[in-house]
Amino acid sequence: MPFVALPGFRDAFPDALARRRRIFEVWRRVAARYGFEEYDGPPLEPLDLYTQKSGEEIIEQLYAFNDKGGRSVALRPEMTPTLARMVSARAAQLKKPIRWFSIPQLFRYERQQRGRQREHFQLNMDIIGEAGPSADAEVIAAALDIVRELGFGSGDVRVRVSDRTVLGAGLGGELGVRQEELGAVLAALDKFERAPEAAIEALEAALGSAERARAVQRFASSLVDPGPLLASGAAVSLNECVASLRAMGLGDFVDVDFRIVRGLAYYTGIVFELFDAKRALRAICGGGRYDDLLKQVGGVDLPCVGFGMGDVVLGELIADRDGAPSVEVAVDVFVVAVGAEDRPEALALAHALRERDVRVEYALKRQAVGKQLELAAARGAGHAVIIGPAEREAGEAVVRNLETKVETRVKLNELRRDYAFTR
Ligand code: HAM
Repeated sequence: MPFVALPGFRDAFPDALARRRRIFEVWRRVAARYGFEEYDGPPLEPLDLYTQKSGEEIIEQLYAFNDKGGRSVALRPEMTPTLARMVSARAAQLKKPIRWFSIPQLFRYERQQRGRQREHFQLNMDIIGEAGPSADAEVIAAALDIVRELGFGSGDVRVRVSDRTVLGAGLGGELGVRQEELGAVLAALDKFERAPEAAIEALEAALGSAERARAVQRFASSLVDPGPLLASGAAVSLNECVASLRAMGLGDFVDVDFRIVRGLAYYTGIVFELFDAKRALRAICGGGRYDDLLKQVGGVDLPCVGFGMGDVVLGELIADRDGAPSVEVAVDVFVVAVGAEDRPEALALAHALRERDVRVEYALKRQAVGKQLELAAARGAGHAVIIGPAEREAGEAVVRNLETKVETRVKLNELRRDYAFTR
């Protein structure tokens, strides 16, 4: 049996990797534009870091095991607990607000389907040390600018913005959901869109009576219209956040939608998710405010807000629009040696060009000139530089433009120094 990759783990062949790299480039460019610094952490963490803070869904999906020292460890399923741990350790020295981003590979034992893998790369952008809604608007704007930079408009991608505090106030009033019940109720509400039956069961378990569960269910159905909650006093921050996004010119992308709750347990305020407008795929990105996590993880009281954006869903959207990725040209110049005695000069020139940062390839074995030119064309090289006995004699080479077929004789000195291979 030939070996294949494990289910949910992707082989990144060069064409697919080129597309991923373009996503990473946009991530880094936009993060830089917003003044974010890059950090990273270990891919393996103590298991407890997740079991206490992340919420049930992620815990069920952990790749966890005991290492040879008998420690319970897990491959990171998300970056936020690592970030909380790292910032807590240096909280006193760091100038607030902290703006940090990272692009970790994450591991979750999920049921594999379109847009869902068992490993993915996830851009994380977080602001730590600012409690006001400008910080929430800032990270949402960054997420939107990334999809805009990738060529998507408000007809393609929407951000659904919600607020757990507003939901909590709505549930706490007439419905009488107590603070200690709120976590479980929000977790149940999070399931409503995807698995309504499981959500109702979870509500009954959380509230201890079918009647209370039905009341909350009615509340959940009423959330189709965000108007009443948005007009409530609890929605001051959310309204301010949306106003900031409008002021930035991003209002077209924004839908206030209280059906967004988020599955992770640590969110405390504004939460949001980006979706493709057709909602054909899982969320492109999800995030929100988590003001208590640093206290729980590291004993430091600092408010935080941020998001995670995966490469998988984004890759699917780009593939739907652009088709299969094309192979990128890796070579500018192909150096051709006519005979064996021309080879040292060809090697010297190839190396000199590489020193100039020109991307160069040549045949690794002796081949007829025709074969070498064939490989040059297959590589997509713009130019072949051909060296034979007559050229060596004259201290020159033939530069052949592989598109126009025009040939020019150029001094070897000039080639080594600064000759421009314009396509
Ligand atoms: P999350 O919603 O679990 O949030 O993941 C964020 C995004 O990562 C998702 O919207 C999705 O695009 C991508 N993603 C997650 N799991 C998978 C998977 N199995 N396959 C493909 N893509 C996936 C978090 O992880 C939070 N820690 C984000 C955060 C940062 N909140 C605050 N700061």
